[in-house]
Amino acid sequence: MNEERYPIDLGPSSLYASLPAEITVEGSPYWLVRDPEGEYRLLMAVCPHAGGDVRPHEDIFYCPLHFWTFHGKTGGCLSDPGHRLAYRKVAVNNERLYASAELH
Ligand code: FES
Repeated sequence: MNEERYPIDLGPSSLYASLPAEITVEGSPYWLVRDPEGEYRLLMAVCPHAGGDVRPHEDIFYCPLHFWTFHGKTGGCLSDPGHRLAYRKVAVNNERLYASAELH
């Protein structure tokens, strides 16, 4: 049974025609992306190495502090596969996006 809760209303999906889209959720910065299966996902824009501001560049994300790079759809770390960007799952209901309360 999926007990994930999706209480954070991100608004209509039409707001996010261009991805990645920068979004603040509960005071933290995220990038909204779609993973390879077409599911939306919120990737936290804070580097797991030492807290740098993660930003998009072409098809990936990178951190300007020590140049770790991250997969542009999943947030998996390309520099050190033992790490990844934290993320929230996103559900679509009646063409609106809702972010999970849980941070993975
Ligand atoms: S803080 Fe991001 S690579 Fe070091």
